[in-house]
Amino acid sequence: MNTQPTPRTSDTKHETKPTASRRTFLGAGAAASVAIPTMVHSSRAQAQESQPLKLAIVGCGGRGRGAINDSLTINDNIKLVAAADLYAQKCDEMRRLAARSHADKVDVADEKMYAGLDGYKRVLDDPDVDVVLLTTSPGFRPYHIMEAVEAGKHVFAEKPSCVDPAGYRVCLEAHRKAVASGTAIVTGTQYRRQVNYQGAVDQIRSGAIGDIVSAVTRYCSSGIWYKNRKPEMSDTEYQLNNWMHFIWLSGDQITEQAVHNIDAMNWVMDSPPATAYASGGRFTRPDDSEMWDSVSVDYQYPGNRAVSFMCRQIPGSEGDNGNVIYGTQGTCYIAAGSGGSRILDRTGKEVWSMEGSIGAAYQQEHKDLVDSIRSGNPIVELKDTAESSLTAVMGRMSAYTGQKVSWEFVTKESTLDLFPKELTWDGERPAPQHAVPGATKLT
Ligand SMILES: NC(=O)c1ccc[n+]([C@@H]2O[C@H](COP(=O)([O-])OP(=O)(O)OC[C@H]3O[C@@H](n4cnc5c(N)ncnc54)[C@H](O)[C@@H]3O)[C@@H](O)[C@H]2O)c1
Repeated sequence: MNTQPTPRTSDTKHETKPTASRRTFLGAGAAASVAIPTMVHSSRAQAQESQPLKLAIVGCGGRGRGAINDSLTINDNIKLVAAADLYAQKCDEMRRLAARSHADKVDVADEKMYAGLDGYKRVLDDPDVDVVLLTTSPGFRPYHIMEAVEAGKHVFAEKPSCVDPAGYRVCLEAHRKAVASGTAIVTGTQYRRQVNYQGAVDQIRSGAIGDIVSAVTRYCSSGIWYKNRKPEMSDTEYQLNNWMHFIWLSGDQITEQAVHNIDAMNWVMDSPPATAYASGGRFTRPDDSEMWDSVSVDYQYPGNRAVSFMCRQIPGSEGDNGNVIYGTQGTCYIAAGSGGSRILDRTGKEVWSMEGSIGAAYQQEHKDLVDSIRSGNPIVELKDTAESSLTAVMGRMSAYTGQKVSWEFVTKESTLDLFPKELTWDGERPAPQHAVPGATKLT
């Protein structure tokens, strides 16, 4: 196993392929006419010949291990063959756990486990890999997705897709390239595959609550993890470990966690919102955490429909996670997790309900991905998830600056680009920044 953490650089082996330098991606949304290079999918042949589809994973943490387990559980004729993480030990642990439940589907040689910031490039260079699961902290996601698509690998990409407008534009370009090259991208917004969410949206579309007037959505909990700095850690290593608390890596709680609720709203409304007007603050976070404790946003959707959003992570506070959609004829309640959906009419009488399992939805993502590759009709759904991620970012930008922010601004004008220009394992990072509404500028 390669155990040496290495910096994220413009690396060597990819330079003959369509460039993977992130600088190339800025403003990529405007580059829709650029010719798409023809790419060769190792998986095309595999799909046609009923050979095992070969999986790799980048980011062997909690969700990465979960996603591998979901894929190996739900899919037949599939093999995990490679892994990358910042730490060799995480790769090893992931392999051990996967093999414990799926011995016949795990064949990861020591030399196919890669540690360090550039380990993912070795995975993407491997001609044996058909599908890559991208489950690192979110800040890397747009750039990893783009490089994976350019390397001809089918992708499962966890949510959120991006943490700033620059990353959103990279996602749009990656989506476009994936469609053109027949590369699948399935994303980790699992509620889109949960039967009671699908059932509720079908009911709403067929008029069960009349016309949608407004909605309320909340992701409120009593806290989130924080990882203390070890004395030997550089600034970079510390931030990568305690990633939730640094906005360039997590996007703050509204992007990292509540994107699930925001994605449900964009789905129900069948559009991203036109504007966001937000507020919030930080009261209980450790000094060096850039995260806010709570953010509330009024989103205005086309058709004069309003969504009231709130997320909160404050110890001792009351939790609430779910969505309520108000219509002219009734109200639809969609609980988070496996809490089910129901519709009440104007008198309060329940007229419809459905149960659903979030565990089944997590697995369905991986079944749909593999089935779509094998059928030759790869799913490419990055654009929707990137839009939902940017909707969350737009709410954060409004809260941090104290300004009303429009979809037009975040998609076309904003220059916000949080990913470091240089990132080295031993490098220094700027001191944590705390947004102050009215003083923090909208860029
Ligand atoms: N869909 C869901 O319900 C759900 C649930 C949990 C987490 N997630 C998402 O999954 C992602 C990972 O979350 P997690 O809880 O597993 O975090 P985690 O910290 O447990 O795992 C992240 C892993 O990625 C590794 N990593 C970070 N940067 C890397 C890089 N550049 N190259 C290779 N490896 C790198 C870390 O070392 C770590 O092992 C996040 O985007 C999170 O929002 C989604």
